[in-house]
Amino acid sequence: MALLEGRDLISIFDFSDREIEAIFDLADDMSKHTRGRLGVADGMIMSTLFYEPSTRTRLSFESAMLRLGGEVISVADASVTSVAKGETIADTVRIVESYADVIVIRNPLEGSARVAADFASIPVLNAGDGPHEHPTQTLLDLYTIRREKGKLRDVSVALVGDLRHGRTVHSLAFGLARFGAKVTCVAPAGLEMPAHLLARLEHEFGCCPVQYPSLAEIVTNDEVVKRRPGRQRALASEVLSLFDAVYVTRVQKERFESEEAYQEAKSSYAITEKMIRKARPDALVMHPLPRVDELDYNVDRDPRAVYFRQAAYGVPIRMALVAALLGLRSVRIGKARKGEYKPKPRREVDFRKFADARCGNAHCVTNHESYLKPQFNLVEYAPGLVSCAYCDQEMPMPAGAKRD
Ligand code: NCD
Repeated sequence: MALLEGRDLISIFDFSDREIEAIFDLADDMSKHTRGRLGVADGMIMSTLFYEPSTRTRLSFESAMLRLGGEVISVADASVTSVAKGETIADTVRIVESYADVIVIRNPLEGSARVAADFASIPVLNAGDGPHEHPTQTLLDLYTIRREKGKLRDVSVALVGDLRHGRTVHSLAFGLARFGAKVTCVAPAGLEMPAHLLARLEHEFGCCPVQYPSLAEIVTNDEVVKRRPGRQRALASEVLSLFDAVYVTRVQKERFESEEAYQEAKSSYAITEKMIRKARPDALVMHPLPRVDELDYNVDRDPRAVYFRQAAYGVPIRMALVAALLGLRSVRIGKARKGEYKPKPRREVDFRKFADARCGNAHCVTNHESYLKPQFNLVEYAPGLVSCAYCDQEMPMPAGAKRD
C-alpha cells in the first residue's frame, strides 16, 4: 500500500511498469463495483479543476470517487473561478488542498499539472496539460488492451491521426514502448509525432516507430508485401491486418493557430467500415474520444470497435488510482522484471537552473506563471541539449550557461 499512497500521477514516467500492472490488478477488482457505492472513501473529497473542456475524463473521475463512497467538489469552467481574476496555479492548489483530499487538474498550459503537484501537499492527478501528457488516459488505454486481448506485452499498435498535438498519444507511445509494443505512427504531413519524443522512444526504450503519412502509404517491407509481392503500396484496408490495435485520434482543433490550418489538416484521414473488414478478426479499433469525422459511425457496429468500452474502463481505472493514491486499498506490487522502467524520484533528478534562460515553448507554464524558475535536465542521448523539467521541450544548452 505504502508504495503508491500519497504519490502524484503527472506523467506516464511517474509509475514503474510494476506499479502500472498493480493498478490494473486493482482495476480488475474495481470492475465488480462500478454500480452502487463501495464505501471505502467515506469522508474523502476529490476536487476536479478543469480549465479545458471535458466530458469523459472529468465525469469518470467524479463517478469513480462517488462509486468509492467519497464526495466531489468541481470546477468545470475556469471563467467562474479566481483564475479569471489572475490567480495562479500555485495559489489555487494551496487553497484547494485544505478543501479536498485529492486534486484532479486539466489545464491548457504544458507542465501545469507538475506545478500543481509541486505546490499541493495532497495527491495530484494530471487529467491533461495542454498537448503534453494525459497519463490516466494511457492507463485506461493500456488496460483496454490487457482486458480485450488478454495480454499487454509485445502488441503491434498503429497510432493514427494528429500525433503532433494529441496528448493521449504522447503518453501512450511511451506506455506501449515500455511493454515491448511495436508502434507504427500514421500522421498527415505537419501532424507527425514530435521529433524529441521519437528520439526519447528510441534511446530510452529501444522503440523506433516507422512513420507513414497515411494508412495507404504503409509500404511493404512488411507482411502485406510478403503476401502480395511486387506491390509498392498497400490498400489501407490491407495494412490494418498488421496491427493488434489501431488507435485513432481526432485533429486537435483547439491547438491550431488558424482556422485555415485546421481545415487543411481536417479530414485528411478517416477510418471506414469497409477498411475495418480487413483488420484481424481479433484487432481492436480504439479512440480516446471525442471523435469528429475521422472514424465513421458505421464502424460502431463492428465487434472490433472497442472505444465505448474503452471509455467505460475509465471508471474502474480511476477508482483504482484514487484508492491507491489515497491509501484506501492495498496494492500488490509484483516482482521486478529485468530492464523494467522505474522512475527516479524528482528530488534525485539533477535539474539545472540557468540564470535568465527561458523554456522555448510559448505554451509552457514557466512562460505564464512568473513565480516559476525554469529548470532543465541534460538530455543524455543528445549532448548540448537540455529539456524543460515542466513541459519536456528540448532546446540547446543556453549560451554561456552557468549553473546557479
Ligand atoms: C482526449 C483529450 O482530452 O486529450 N479526450 C479524453 O480525455 N478522452 C482526446 C481528445 O480530446 O481528442
